[in-house]
Amino acid sequence: MQDLEQPVMNLTTSDKQTLIKNWAEGYKSQLNEYNYEIENIEGEIPHELEGTIFRNGPGKFEVNGQKFGHIFDGDGMICRIAFSQGKAYFQNSYVRTEGYLAEKKAGKILYRGFGTQKPGGFLANIFDIKFKNAANTNVLHWGDKLLAMWEGGKPHQLNPQTLETIGLDDLNGLLDPNKSFSAHPKIIDDVLVNFGVQGITNQQLVIWELDKNGNKLKEKSFPMEGFAFLHDMLITPNYYIFIQHPFKIGALPFLFGFQSIEQCFGFDKNKPAKIIVISRHEDNQMNIIEGDSFFGFHHGNAWEKDDHIYFQSCCSDVYPQMTQENSDMSKIAYDKFPTSNLYQFKVSLTSPKVTREKLDNRGCEFPCVHPNWVGKENRYIYMNVTDNNNGGGPLQNIIKLDLTGEATQVWNPSPTAFAGEPIFVPHPEKNGEDDGWLVSLVYDSSTNKSYLAILSAQDINQVVAKLHLSHHIPHGFHGTWTSKAFI
Ligand code: CO
Repeated sequence: MQDLEQPVMNLTTSDKQTLIKNWAEGYKSQLNEYNYEIENIEGEIPHELEGTIFRNGPGKFEVNGQKFGHIFDGDGMICRIAFSQGKAYFQNSYVRTEGYLAEKKAGKILYRGFGTQKPGGFLANIFDIKFKNAANTNVLHWGDKLLAMWEGGKPHQLNPQTLETIGLDDLNGLLDPNKSFSAHPKIIDDVLVNFGVQGITNQQLVIWELDKNGNKLKEKSFPMEGFAFLHDMLITPNYYIFIQHPFKIGALPFLFGFQSIEQCFGFDKNKPAKIIVISRHEDNQMNIIEGDSFFGFHHGNAWEKDDHIYFQSCCSDVYPQMTQENSDMSKIAYDKFPTSNLYQFKVSLTSPKVTREKLDNRGCEFPCVHPNWVGKENRYIYMNVTDNNNGGGPLQNIIKLDLTGEATQVWNPSPTAFAGEPIFVPHPEKNGEDDGWLVSLVYDSSTNKSYLAILSAQDINQVVAKLHLSHHIPHGFHGTWTSKAFI
């Protein structure tokens, strides 16, 4: 296990303020759409790197000067970086959602969002329970479809060749008009597993498995007890795993227009989180095991071993609540803001017992493993971490955490730059767990531009190439790799 006693970096208050200000610069909107060959390249793009990175995230955070109340409500913008024969090509495009188009035309905010109220007080919001599908959380290329995903609704289909929006997609009839499809699918043995939580009260959890052509293999449905805010899931050969954190919701202020839905979230730190283990193969077999109280958006990897399930998850003590009033990212008080750390869980399959152990002291998000290790015991896990090991701060670095404790590495892009989610691209001809590259979009506040970093997964301090864009891309969420090169 890791030595958690690493030197603490003591930043002065003004250093911290500069760091947060620099990071918050990455939440400036990018209103332009580009399409060009990337020519400003440091290093060399490996010739084995043939394929495409797609990445999603909010591209703009306001309409005509009216700011959205939460970064989760920014309009989804897909970035595509295609690699072929040592060259790279960039394109970005907004997802033309109904909300994006209508708000652009009207020149004002027309929809409520996760943390956004329409301007005009409660009268403008009362009984309006329609959210804008921001299509901003993840992007997936599956069954020849490119899908921009958002957990509260259906995915939007885009043309992978042109990035034109085709429209909302029901996945060949899989999703009826009210079904939502989460933004955190898992892929195991060429099967796509995803879920959706339907409704705000009397919720239903629906789980699907799709083959590689997008055809349904399985669908299961379970009623949820209490309020569930499920962002991510875990998968093993035999189980789906969900974590239901101890939320309660008082939806009346939302219904009557006084508060956004996110402001109605209550977190009960005296109640346990529930680990929900569901059989993939048996009908109606669900086990709920109560653990500590904690919150976490993102999980790492899960596997089965000796009558136990093991998994990693980014856990904070409480939910990091934002309000429309404090949505200015440059004013985040990181000393008080809940920070996630990576924990490893051990869940018994024969008794209602779960334990967890902290793996690293740095603040973290966006963990990933080599795609062929999903559902199998992993040695390495890659993720974004803070540049200190004493909790709060913006995500800045990339870590390759070695769970044996032997060979953990950290890559710091620079004191003014902030790496986004690392996406693991496997080497096409090699089979080791760290044979491949980590690809990450990095925002550099010193140039107000972004670049794509390609790191060797074996030695993440070996920067294989930096592909400099001619503009910035705001901090984003999730992306994906496909071995097809879309140019
Ligand atoms: Co996520």
